[in-house]
Amino acid sequence: MTPTERHSPNSGPTPASPAPARQIRIFDTTLRDGEQSPGASMNLTEKMEIAQALVQLGVDIIEAGFPIASPGDFESVRDIAGAVRGVTVCGLARCNEADIDRAWEALKQAERPRIHVFLATSSIHREFKLRMNEEEVLARAIAGVTRARGLCNDVEFSPEDAARTEIDFLCRVVERVIAAGATTVNIPDTVGYATPTQMFSVIKSLRDRVPNIDKAVISAHCHDDLGLAVANSLAAVEAGAGQVECTINGIGERAGNCSLEEVVMAMRTRRDYYGCDTRITTQKLVPTSRLVANITGIQVPRNKAIVGRNAFAHEAGIHQDGMLKERSTYEIMRPEDVGLERTDLVLGKHSGRAALADRARALGYQLSPEQIQTVFERFKLLADRKKEIYDGDIAALCEQQFSELPELFVYEGYDLTSASGSPPTVTLRVRQQEEQKTVVVTAGDGPIDGIFLAIEKLTGIVTTCRDFRVQAVTVGKDAQAEVTVELEHAGQVQRGRGVSTDSLEASAKAFLAAVNRLALGSQPRLHPQRT
Ligand code: KIV
Ligand code: ZN
Repeated sequence: MTPTERHSPNSGPTPASPAPARQIRIFDTTLRDGEQSPGASMNLTEKMEIAQALVQLGVDIIEAGFPIASPGDFESVRDIAGAVRGVTVCGLARCNEADIDRAWEALKQAERPRIHVFLATSSIHREFKLRMNEEEVLARAIAGVTRARGLCNDVEFSPEDAARTEIDFLCRVVERVIAAGATTVNIPDTVGYATPTQMFSVIKSLRDRVPNIDKAVISAHCHDDLGLAVANSLAAVEAGAGQVECTINGIGERAGNCSLEEVVMAMRTRRDYYGCDTRITTQKLVPTSRLVANITGIQVPRNKAIVGRNAFAHEAGIHQDGMLKERSTYEIMRPEDVGLERTDLVLGKHSGRAALADRARALGYQLSPEQIQTVFERFKLLADRKKEIYDGDIAALCEQQFSELPELFVYEGYDLTSASGSPPTVTLRVRQQEEQKTVVVTAGDGPIDGIFLAIEKLTGIVTTCRDFRVQAVTVGKDAQAEVTVELEHAGQVQRGRGVSTDSLEASAKAFLAAVNRLALGSQPRLHPQRT
């Protein structure tokens, strides 16, 4: 693939010289498309935290949500737009006046607002979903972009399902929306159907055939249904796209979106080949990935490129031997460049607050002095239960700080007797305001079920458990257990997380955290309607 050079925002090829790298804009849609992952909805505080982390990471554009989808979505786009600086904040809108006006209402306080309008263009969508012909789609796209441009100078248009749209029609739509004022044209592979060569050829055709293409930035938005989202996005960049849309950990609708950390590190590591780079501070990739995993409850697979726990673990003896002789034999990136420290075993019982604060900072956590004090107190308690404190433990303690919300019910402790084949007896102690409450239940299929039933009895909140996961935070028999649960009650779904060296206590804390959220009635939220 050898794209031809063009002097446009999407400019071209990969010169083999030390020429300055072409800057690719990183458009992060973790808070919009990412939130469309089943079970990943986030509350306002969590979205704000992620938005701030994305600013620190150095993304160019944050797609903060779909303002018309729900009052909660509107508020989070509005609040993020008002709070963050130094990045573009974008809101999604279908191609109609109500959506576009609502998006603008949410975005207008942003330092750099962008309205993102989308309308499907493929024949399948035209015929079965929109029931519109080509001319009607074209007219609606132009009207939508014109309206958005009347409100905002930065307008992105997405022909939804572009990768399955007839290329002649796609070129016509792109030309007309640019003429109507679109400053970015995003090419979505909405259903993850494209292949890299095809994606390359779509972008190249747009660059070759659309006369006003140099007036807009071409963007790629690829889904991962065939596991090709990153490869397709890179092919689009090779063909001259100037923006990539992606999410942290690749979360998103169905199989997800292009993973930010992968596409960024591919461009950084293979700058010799792509001749491109981004503004991303790559040392913040792992901390941001952890933050998003903890908030969404969608854990990163161990073998995930860049941010998976095994991504830099060398197991084979031959590899270890090679690494000891010369790192580059088996390592194409340095773990510290993505925010993973090489030294894993760090602190113990006698370590002081300064060492802990230093370690937390190295792991990417910016904590206030009060937060450091709280983490330090918990660290001391943990050090009494566990001899060696690893980076994973420290990360878990820091994240606990971020995920804590006001608690109606505070976990105090449990007693339990259990034997296989008969229901356990659980005594659970919880504080509600100043009152200590105790409940005893003999019920459940094993200790964890017994604890959950006890919490339900004590709080009066009966739930359906939609997800329950336990994983070890670090290695060793004394490793802390991290439990995440997802509970449903009265149409609301909430997640909770608990960490402890005692996996039953971690389960109780996680369950109670989710019950607290249900009890405090975090705003119910509709998932964005796509059409
Ligand atoms: O996948 C898709 O087509 C989208 C658009 C709204 C850009 O997410
Ligand atoms: Zn999408």
